[in-house]
Order: sequence, then C-alpha cells, then structure tokens
Amino acid sequence: MTHPLTVRMMAFEVPSTEDFNPLYIAGNATLSYLHTALGLYAVYLEPFMVKSMRRVMPQIRDEALRESVDRFCRQESQHYQKHADFNKVVLARNYPGLEVRMKQLRDEFDGYLRDRSDRFCIGFVEGFESYTAQSALTMVASGLYEHELTDPRFAKLFKWHLIEEIEHRNVAYDIYQHLYGSYLVRAYMCWRAQRHLFRFYADCMRILSAAEGGRGGAHYRTSFKHRLLFSRISPFAKRLRTLLPGYTPHHLRVPASISTQAEQLSSKAVSIQ
Ligand SMILES: [Fe+2]
Ligand SMILES: [Fe+2]
Repeated sequence: MTHPLTVRMMAFEVPSTEDFNPLYIAGNATLSYLHTALGLYAVYLEPFMVKSMRRVMPQIRDEALRESVDRFCRQESQHYQKHADFNKVVLARNYPGLEVRMKQLRDEFDGYLRDRSDRFCIGFVEGFESYTAQSALTMVASGLYEHELTDPRFAKLFKWHLIEEIEHRNVAYDIYQHLYGSYLVRAYMCWRAQRHLFRFYADCMRILSAAEGGRGGAHYRTSFKHRLLFSRISPFAKRLRTLLPGYTPHHLRVPASISTQAEQLSSKAVSIQ
C-alpha cells in the first residue's frame, strides 16, 4: 500500500536570468516578492527543520510516526533543493541588502541548532508548519498559480511545494505532541516562529521593492500599506488560530481536489518513493 506522504523527485524548468520576470505571480509586485521571500526563507528554514527532526528520531516510540517524520524530512529536503535552483536566478539580480539579510537568517538557524534545546527546535518547526498548512490551502485555492500573468515555471514549483505542505500538515504537530505536549510552549513557539517568518517577509519585500522599483518604476514597487497587509494583517487570523488551545491540523478541512492534484503531481514526478 502506498504511504499518504509521497516523496516526489521533480524536474522543473528553471527560467534563465535573461527571461526571469520579477513579477512572476499574476504580474503583481507584492504577491511576487512574497513568493520570492518564501523561496529564500525555505533554503535555510527547511534544512534546519530536517536536522531538528532527524536529531529527535531516536526518541520516537511509535513506528508509524517515525516513518511519517522520515518522509516529512525527505519531502522538505526536496523542497529546499528545488528552491535553491530558482533562487540562483533571483539572486543573480542586484538586490542591495539582501545578502546581509540572508546571512543573518542562516546564522539564526545555525544558532538555534547549536544553542537551543530539541524542544525549542521542534516547537519552532511546529510553529511554522501550523501556519503554512493553513496558508498552503488558501494559496492553492486562490487560483494565483493558474493566473494568465503567472509564470508557469514558478507556478509548478510553488504548487508542488504547497500541496506537499498540505500532505504532511500533521507531522510536526504529532511529533511535538508525542515528545513534549505542553500547550503553553507550543503556543509560544507558534508566535515566535511565525514572527520570525513575517519579519523576514517584510524585510525581503522592502529590499526587493526598492531595487526593482528603482529599475522598473512604480509598477515594481510595493507600498508600505501592502507590505503591512500581507506580512502582518492578513496572516493574523491564521496565526491566532494556531495559538488556541484546541488547535490541531487534524481538524483542517482539506478539499477533495487536493488529493486529485497530488496524484497529478505524482504522475509528473521523475520518481516517487
Ligand atoms: Fe516545505
Ligand atoms: Fe513543511
């Protein structure tokens, strides 16, 4: 029988630096920079998540959970490797301040692995995942990846990533509950991990907007109001939900169309495990 968490090896067409359009999502600056920020964040967050999860594997006393955690790690490893290919195209453009911000991000995750407890790291993973599972459902349903002004090469990358985020939505929560279970620590780590993500989003959007706006004019700029809306106001309800004592990703409503799309992805994969 196939496992519900499918590890897919994908082969995506990556744009060249010459035909890269920075407004690749719906021709919209804010939405495109938000996706770019997610791709940049993923290449340091996801290795941190995989290392954090692998470190506590010997403590898992449940065979099925151990298998799910292993598959979670293998899915996340594919995600950051594919984002790294696309990020090269992004980073080939001149974005003053981005390199310094990326280095800060990498140092923070390295520091967490070096100095913080397993409970902190697993709590951080769970805090991030509990937000992204909800966000992935919204993004996939939004129609943005089918928009006529969206670059299909980026659309395929993000859709694959987000559908696998939905597939493995329960794993971080389950391992956190299995090993630690404290509600207060979980709520604190949700707040902390999500704050970390949205600070990076806000910084990244500001840096990209300044550089692309300088090159291309007003259409390539994001306003302070839009950045505030996307990095603070619109995520608020989803963030709040993860803090509630009764929150569990097991209760998220997943439309049947997600499993159809997941099957389509599997049929397009180079190989699946
Ligand atoms: Fe991921
Ligand atoms: Fe994930």
